[in-house]
Amino acid sequence: MEYCEIGSQDLETIAILSERHLTHGKKILDDIRQHRLMTDYFGVKAVEQDQIIGFYTCIEGRLEFTLPHPEAEREIRKIIGDKKIVTGDTLYVDPAYRGRGIASELSRRVTEMARKRGGKFFLTEAWIHPDGIVPARKIVPFNGDVVYRKILPGFYRDLYKYGMECPICGRDCVCGAEVELHIL
Ligand SMILES: CC(C)(COP(=O)(O)OP(=O)(O)OC[C@H]1O[C@@H](n2cnc3c(N)ncnc32)[C@H](O)[C@@H]1OP(=O)(O)O)[C@@H](O)C(=O)NCCC(=O)NCCS
Repeated sequence: MEYCEIGSQDLETIAILSERHLTHGKKILDDIRQHRLMTDYFGVKAVEQDQIIGFYTCIEGRLEFTLPHPEAEREIRKIIGDKKIVTGDTLYVDPAYRGRGIASELSRRVTEMARKRGGKFFLTEAWIHPDGIVPARKIVPFNGDVVYRKILPGFYRDLYKYGMECPICGRDCVCGAEVELHIL
């Protein structure tokens, strides 16, 4: 197992895996593919036998949720002021490799990169499944100490309006999100 920084050559794999396992929809593919110049996009991948089996990607300098949430965005902007924010974008580990601490290690490494790139805050949007399970709950603490936290039930309700679907609920999504702002 190897951990390395992602490059533009990884974007297509990341786009396809994200669209399949995180949120369905062409918008997801387009959003990730638009980063091909890697100007404000970075991340870490876990590689086994030349295959990407996990990744954690980030958007630099922009506060960006999967879909707009103006009130939370306003509250967060008030805290960050003109300091640089990094938004956690996609986090995924292949089911065959889960439970071995890979996501935790990706999170530690991406946090270190965010610091080196001058980030002062790290924003996370942790998915709350309909049964209340939050897969990334124990992984986001590696992104720094929490200075803002908001639980937003129904966070993904409007996915369909943006041409997206939930991999669990389909069009009518009832999943929520735990939004946290971390200090880097
Ligand atoms: C979430 C995910 C990235 C975790 O990957 P992983 O490499 O198995 O995670 P780790 O082994 O580093 O686990 C760290 C901790 O999180 C817990 N955890 C991992 N996946 C979990 C899940 N699905 N539900 C609840 N807890 C989970 C582990 O039990 C572990 O806890 P411990 O430290 O007490 O043992 C992986 O399950 C995944 O890709 N899920 C689908 C996509 C997803 O949900 N992404 C996050 C969107 S916000």
